[in-house]
Amino acid sequence: MDFSSLFSLNTVTVAIVLVLIILSINRSLQWPANLPPGPTGYPVIGSILLFRKGNVLELFRKLRAQYGDVFSLTLGKNLTVVISGEEALKEAFIQQAEDFSDRSENSLTGRILKNKGIGFSSGKYWKQTRTFALSTLRNFGFGRKSLESRVQEDIAAYLDMIEQQDGQPYDMKELTVMAISNIICSITFGNRFDYTDAKFKRITSLFAENFRLLALGGAAQAFPYLKYLPGDMFNIKKLIQNTKEIRDFVFEQITEHRNTLDDQNQRDFIDAFLSQQSIHGQEDTIFEDLNLAVSVINLFVAGTDTTATMIRWAIVYLIHNKHIQDKLRQEIETVVGCSRLPSLADKSDMPYYEAFITEVFRMGNITPLAVPHGALKDIHFRGMVIPKGTLIMPNLDSVMTDPDIFKNPEKFEPERFLGKDCQLNGKERNVLAFSLGRRVCLGESLARMELFLFMTSLLQRFEFLPESPETLPSTDGILGLALVPHDFKCRAVKLK
Ligand code: HEM
Repeated sequence: MDFSSLFSLNTVTVAIVLVLIILSINRSLQWPANLPPGPTGYPVIGSILLFRKGNVLELFRKLRAQYGDVFSLTLGKNLTVVISGEEALKEAFIQQAEDFSDRSENSLTGRILKNKGIGFSSGKYWKQTRTFALSTLRNFGFGRKSLESRVQEDIAAYLDMIEQQDGQPYDMKELTVMAISNIICSITFGNRFDYTDAKFKRITSLFAENFRLLALGGAAQAFPYLKYLPGDMFNIKKLIQNTKEIRDFVFEQITEHRNTLDDQNQRDFIDAFLSQQSIHGQEDTIFEDLNLAVSVINLFVAGTDTTATMIRWAIVYLIHNKHIQDKLRQEIETVVGCSRLPSLADKSDMPYYEAFITEVFRMGNITPLAVPHGALKDIHFRGMVIPKGTLIMPNLDSVMTDPDIFKNPEKFEPERFLGKDCQLNGKERNVLAFSLGRRVCLGESLARMELFLFMTSLLQRFEFLPESPETLPSTDGILGLALVPHDFKCRAVKLK
């Protein structure tokens, strides 16, 4: 054995650890004295050991009880501030929106996407990109009647695929992701894909894989130097490789669109962007190709697995609550009947559906910590200082599970949102599933429209049953980038 190399390896390891300790102590010495309170962390690792039991939401509940609505903790070299409770959330993200609406420049996702696009850019660049995206998407029918027929086309194909399973146990995940993804394809690329198209299958699976891997990216966010380790234990290289493949696919679409562009007859989001590019140029404007590619990627990432996950949560709760399933179907029969697909015009006459889906938003709680914001300068808040570089987490979970707002919050009860007149009672406004303030989800109206059309069409045609009477799907979620249900199979039995 070569002892000298063993010795030098140990010396190098000790030296690296010492440098990291000195750097992290030096960094924390630069933080102001009136930071939000929180647990004392260790050099280098910070408070990471608190997370070893895994339930982050439970941990944040305990820390909030101990330190209050605004607490801080260190994760690796980063300072993180968690804001909880409706009052503090509104104060920060609405009343002090100018300070609290940026993203961190150092987040893993932001760095992979070069801090461009809608979801991970900041400041003026973000405001202009978001404004352009929102108005363009509205023109292409976001949440409006004009998009409805395209969504219904996808639903018809989706229902047929489910019917082909003939009431046998089936995992709806992949099919649901493809159906929802196709709607974003229509809006951004101007066409939908066949479910058997190999390229479409590959791209949707890459998006789904990144959605899953980003959860593990949590470790890489806190310890960015992990990416220099040999191998790919934290899947960072895989994440980057997948993103490159997705980006190449989007660039191919951009080139095809550029070659066939007709300014007077814009087909989709990419055409609308390229038309602006031909007016303003790419230099010193937001209309550069990379911003277009990242914005399209943002729409796919933010708009596919979120809505598809909500559909799966809705099915989980329908299987657990047959009486709710029956009640919903009764409302559909009364308002829509069974000779046509449900349409957006029916929505206002279906308060029970609205109460049901709001309860799925609350209990499914798919984005309990929204997407982290970032302090791009020192922020003064409630007499404390949140220093530049801090990651800021809106703790939406703290509202969704607040027993003062929602009695028996652990119970699935759509009726909590209905008054004596069986209409919505206003409590639905406390369900902050799409976050709040200027970064509020850009796709809320599309998501609500998709959920309505998908869920009511599914219930109109099928009864949902568990795989077998003994195997009910779990109502516990797995928290990664979003809170998702465990994989489950169910039976969709066609109604007579
Ligand atoms: C049930 C479905 C959905 C849920 C629960 C959801 C929730 C959220 C949340 C919590 C955020 C973070 C807000 C913040 O930073 O504070 C967000 C951001 C965003 N969402 Fe959604 N979303 C959904 C569907 C969609 C859809 C369908 C689209 C578009 C096609 C979309 C596009 C976006 C974009 C682009 C952002 C980034 C906004 C920005 O940074 O300015 N989302 N969403």
